[in-house]
Amino acid sequence: DKNGYDHYMLKEIHEQPQAVAQTIKGRLDRDIGKINLENYGISKINLKEIERIQIVACGTSYYAGCLARYFIEQFTRIPVEVDLASESRYRTPTVTAKTLSVALSQSGETIDTLQAIKFAKENGAKTLAIVNMPGSTIAHNCHDESLIYAGPEVGVASTKALSAQISSLIILGLALAQEQKKLSSEKIAEYIDELVKIPSLLEKTLTLSSYIEHLSKKFYNALSILFIGRGPQWYVAMEGALKLKELSYIHAEGYAAGELKHGPIALIDENIWSVCIAPKDSYYEKTISNIEEIRARGGKILAVGTEGDENLKSISDEFIGVPECSELIQPFLTTVPLHLLSYWVAVKKGTDVDQPRNLAKSVTVE
Ligand code: F6R
Repeated sequence: DKNGYDHYMLKEIHEQPQAVAQTIKGRLDRDIGKINLENYGISKINLKEIERIQIVACGTSYYAGCLARYFIEQFTRIPVEVDLASESRYRTPTVTAKTLSVALSQSGETIDTLQAIKFAKENGAKTLAIVNMPGSTIAHNCHDESLIYAGPEVGVASTKALSAQISSLIILGLALAQEQKKLSSEKIAEYIDELVKIPSLLEKTLTLSSYIEHLSKKFYNALSILFIGRGPQWYVAMEGALKLKELSYIHAEGYAAGELKHGPIALIDENIWSVCIAPKDSYYEKTISNIEEIRARGGKILAVGTEGDENLKSISDEFIGVPECSELIQPFLTTVPLHLLSYWVAVKKGTDVDQPRNLAKSVTVE
């Protein structure tokens, strides 16, 4: 049931506020500044003992892991490694009894992720499945299971599961910080206050849809589009590029903004659009200089930034503003216009949005 939407993807993009609300529900106690481990799904693993974290995942789930890494490391100072599941076990990664290996998968059936987490478990790691589908094979093979409760995701391209996964990993980071006494309960309460704001901020951001539909006219004929960002926004850029490729078959590349001048800037000319993600965060000034570098070479710029940022607007050809919020919340909001952009560009091109060519919802072959 598409609930009145033309495609499952559009419906699922619009379901993100509820998805995140479900992920955090019952797991955070604001009054005492505490994460409820049992409700989160941790019962067998002792988080006090963890000295390293390994996240294994594929595709969009991998980007969720890469993005959340910034926050988990910030909260806990525990080193986090994020591995593409298809690569992980072939390099025989170092895992010990003090490693927490997390299998991050919407479906819970992705074979590469399953193999990677099996390897980690066989080598002594504590294993946690963060999945959306109940009763999955991946969860069956892990010590503990934490469901994200995003609700069924039918569109092949993952959208609402991504926001739910990032929320879940932030809760995991707070839980580790709590158990290892790296953050005070006051500090945890502050982060909880941030997290509960996500659904209503997502709701506001989703009103951008018709504006982005209108913008998509400028992009559907593009041959190639570059996506750049810094920090967590680097992975929002990667995700934006992945979605554009898979839905509209337009070539796209995601890049860390600071890496532009080490090669890809050679691509820039007046025919190339760059989608530059630059909300007001601690990387802002640096990202702005990278945007100036593109501009100086005649490249066209679609900026995704903070609402009312006249400075960014003045150096861009097109501007999309998301609501002002803390750095923890920004990636949730900046993802929305990129998912909508890939959706509307694909609709304009007439490709099969819910079932792109050559793809399957869950990939059960290596
Ligand atoms: C991209 C997409 C895929 C999946 C990947 C992992 O839009 O949906 O890249 O994210 O195949 O799937 P799960 O999370 O089910 O393991």
